[in-house]
Amino acid sequence: MMNTKKYYITTPLYYVNDKPHIGHAYTTLAADVLARHLRAKDIPVHFQTGTDEHGSNIEKIAREKGIAPKVWCDGISADFRNLWKTLNIKYDYFIRTTDAAHEAGVQAVFEQLIKSGDIYPGSYEGLYCSSCEAFYDEGELKEKNCPVHARPVERVKEETYFFRLSKYGDALLAHYEKHPDFLSPRYRSQELINFVKSGLRDISVSRTKVAWGVPVRSDPKHTVYVWFDALLNYATGAGYNPEHNSPDFPVLWPADVHLVGKEIFRFHGVIWPAMLMALGVELPRKVYAHGWWTINGDKMSKSRGNYIRAEDVVRDYGVDALRYFIFREVPFGQDGDFSMEAFHRRYNADLANDLGNLFSRLMNMAAKYLDHRLPEKPADSEIFRELTSWTPEIHRRIEALQFSEALEKIWQGVSTLNRLVDTKKPWALAKTDPAALKSFLHEMVWCLRLLAAWLDPFMPDTASRMHLQLGVGRTAGGVEPQKVPPLFPRKQEEKTGDPKNN
Ligand code: ME8
Ligand code: MG
Repeated sequence: MMNTKKYYITTPLYYVNDKPHIGHAYTTLAADVLARHLRAKDIPVHFQTGTDEHGSNIEKIAREKGIAPKVWCDGISADFRNLWKTLNIKYDYFIRTTDAAHEAGVQAVFEQLIKSGDIYPGSYEGLYCSSCEAFYDEGELKEKNCPVHARPVERVKEETYFFRLSKYGDALLAHYEKHPDFLSPRYRSQELINFVKSGLRDISVSRTKVAWGVPVRSDPKHTVYVWFDALLNYATGAGYNPEHNSPDFPVLWPADVHLVGKEIFRFHGVIWPAMLMALGVELPRKVYAHGWWTINGDKMSKSRGNYIRAEDVVRDYGVDALRYFIFREVPFGQDGDFSMEAFHRRYNADLANDLGNLFSRLMNMAAKYLDHRLPEKPADSEIFRELTSWTPEIHRRIEALQFSEALEKIWQGVSTLNRLVDTKKPWALAKTDPAALKSFLHEMVWCLRLLAAWLDPFMPDTASRMHLQLGVGRTAGGVEPQKVPPLFPRKQEEKTGDPKNN
């Protein structure tokens, strides 16, 4: 076991400033799709997610609520874990930046970098957005506000430790050049490369005015800057501590892919690898920055009431409909708009009609005409052979994180089968040629098994319902196909607007 490197997938650690919404679900579901796909191929996987709990913003919210920061964090962190359960997300490890092992790792890293000279004391004056937990230059502001949150920034002047980021510019550029997929997708990489080329400045990595953070061991009036703390999760969660590594670390590290939203690409593509270089730790293989969901064309925002909760969508349409929609609607990487109208349309067209009807039509006929026995794999079926030959391409697309492209190919299979049923007219064959009917249904049962296997990483619940009906995973022979309830009952009424108001 020790030497089998696991495929290590991460999501960002989400801030616990508020309950999760569909945007957080997106990244975590993407990690789940990839993890499920790899596990199905018997590739050992380690999938880590969690919550980012320190910093001035959380401190402020807890103060407003009149509770201890940790109590607030416990509540929201649990909301995230509950949502992952609702969404059928199977992670291997959930890390919180308030975990003792993580905090110890952060402290050890800080001391090590003070010792090596990559962290040094100084003082800083800058413009700070507490929602981003980041400093901005005057020129980066939009109408004097934070460019991300459109909220005022505060001028902060304090004693701070700096991380010697400036030292790593050339090494970063060399790494990007040598590993062209490190920054993915490629169309997002140039912006980061230009940023590094323009010259990196050292960054402030401690605060004296934020009590809710990891104290610097040798200078405890400082707490570690929340991003420096949070980025380290990817290593500490895998057992890293410069003072005593866990034997797990070489099994997990380097991370194979850090999935992140595009707004935090710079932290993951520039600062994080520089931190690892300073520590002498191998870099992750890939940082993948996906796009942003807007809601009905607007930025998701709690304050403007413009957001969608995954729980609401799941209540109305089921988990798998959500899992399908977000990966089918928009190519992973690009920005996209989430509207319940589009969701409803795809639900009825792709799921209730194309997939659901195909499955129930065929299963009902199989139940009636296949002697209550599901047959062995067809020796000579052109359609089954053809569809089987698509599997490597579907796998390749999932492994390249081309989820919408993978689903397109799968739905091409669904359409192919629907067309075949329409031309073969099995209901007519039932009267004219029962033997031909049986052999056709026999082929179809096996094609549906293949379809269920393809769908499994995206729609695990649907796939297992299909598998159950199709007798997969049971001892060969005596399995009875049955009449099946629809996989996706058609929805008559179009849900309009924001589901949280329903
Ligand atoms: O940035 N569309 O946490 P965060 C797509 N704690 N993805 C979205 C999204 C949207 N509208 N909204 C959020 C932080 N996301 C830091 C990360 S990592 C060491 C620390 C997803 O709670 C997307 O993955 O603001 C984005 O990067 C992440 O949630 C931001 O979560
Ligand atoms: Mg954010």
